[in-house]
Amino acid sequence: EVGMNAQDLGKLLHREPAEIVKKLFMLGVMTNQNQSLDKDAIELVAAEYGIDAQEKVHEDISDIDSMYDKLMDESKQSKHQVKRPPVVTIMGHVDHGKTTLLDRLRHTHVSAHEAGGITQKIGAYQVRIDDKPITFLDTPGHAAFSNMRERGAEVTDIVILVVAADDGVMPQTIEAIDHAKSAKVPIIVAINKMDAPGANPAHVTEQLMKYNLIPENYGGETIFVNISAKTGENVDELLQMILLQADVMELKADPTQKAIGTVIEAHLSRGRGPVADLLVQQGTLHTGDPIVVGNRFGRVRVMTNDRGRQVEKATPSMPVEITGLNDVPESADKIVVFDDEKTARSVGEQRAQAALQHARENVQHVTLDNLFDTM
Ligand code: GTP
Ligand code: MG
Repeated sequence: EVGMNAQDLGKLLHREPAEIVKKLFMLGVMTNQNQSLDKDAIELVAAEYGIDAQEKVHEDISDIDSMYDKLMDESKQSKHQVKRPPVVTIMGHVDHGKTTLLDRLRHTHVSAHEAGGITQKIGAYQVRIDDKPITFLDTPGHAAFSNMRERGAEVTDIVILVVAADDGVMPQTIEAIDHAKSAKVPIIVAINKMDAPGANPAHVTEQLMKYNLIPENYGGETIFVNISAKTGENVDELLQMILLQADVMELKADPTQKAIGTVIEAHLSRGRGPVADLLVQQGTLHTGDPIVVGNRFGRVRVMTNDRGRQVEKATPSMPVEITGLNDVPESADKIVVFDDEKTARSVGEQRAQAALQHARENVQHVTLDNLFDTM
C-alpha cells in the first residue's frame, strides 16, 4: 500500500491529475484520480515522463513572483495609496461554527442588501457594514491559509478564531493560533455558540490566555467577541471589531496602478474554459487587461463579482472571478498585468516551458526510492 494516487503523482510531476490518469489508461492501468497506485504504475508513469528529458532549454524565465514583489513594494511606497478593505480568514476547530458564521454573514449582509442579488459562490466574498466592505476568504480556513503560506502568498490581514463556548480550546484551535502567529496576522477571538446550554465563555477565555491571547479587560490587546452564529447574536459587533482592527492596521493600497493579485482557487468550466477566483491586492484590474497568472496567460475576458454580477474593473481587496486564461492556474499563483497581450503570452509560454523542463529534469533524478521518500 503506497498511498499515492494520480493527484499526488501529478503534483510531483507538475502535471494535471487528469493527464496522469490518461497516461495510465494508455499504459493499460485503469484508475481514477483518488485511487492508490501500486509501485509498478508509479514506475511506469515516471519512466514515461523521464524519456525525452535530454534536450535542454536554456531560456531565461521571467519570474512573476519577483515582479509581483517589486510591484507590491512600489505600491506600498506610492503617494496614491488609499484605505482598502481588510481580508479576513475564519479558522477554528471542527464543528465550532465556521461555516455557520460565514453563511450568516453572507445571507445577512450580502444577498439581503442586494435586491434580487444571487450569491454566486466564488472563493471569497465581501460583506458591507455601514458601506465599509470586508473581504472574507470563503474556503476552509486552515487548508487555504496553509496552502497560501506554503507558497509565500500573504493575502490574509486578520484571522477570526472561532472557538465554541461549549467545547473550548481544541487541537485545531491551537493549530490556527500557531498559523496566525507565524504569519504575524492579528487574531480576533469569536467565542461562538453562546446560545448553547453548556456555554462557558469565561472558561474558554481562560484557556486562550495560556496561548497569549489576552482580552483587554485582562490587560491584553486581543479583541474577544461572544457570538452565536446560529442566532446572529453579536455578529454585527464582530464585524465592527474587524473594521476597528483594520483601522488600527491602516491597510492601504494604490488603485491607480496596474493590478497585482493572488489566485484563491481555479477550475476548468465546461462552457467558459479556465476560471480563476482571485483577489486583487494592488492597482485596479480591468476587463481586457493582458495578464500572466503563474504559468498561465491571457486577457481578462469576463470578470464577475462575488454576487455574480459582471464588472468592468476590480479594486484592491476585491474578489473576482475571471475567464480568459489559456489554462487553469493554481491556487496561490501570482497575477501580474502586462502592457500588451503579446508580452503576456510570451512570458506565460516561457514560464510554462521552463516549468515543464524543470519537471523533466526532476523526473530524471527521481529514482523510485527517493520518489517514495517524498510521500
Ligand atoms: P467544519 O467545517 O466541520 O470544521 O465545522 P464548522 O466549524 O464549519 O462548523 P459548522 O458551522 O458546520 O457547525 C457545526 C455545528 O454547530 C452545526 O450543527 C451548527 O448548526 C452548530 N452551530 C454553529 N454555530 C452555532 C451556534 O452559534 N450555536 C449553536 N447552538 N450551534 C451552532
Ligand atoms: Mg465548515
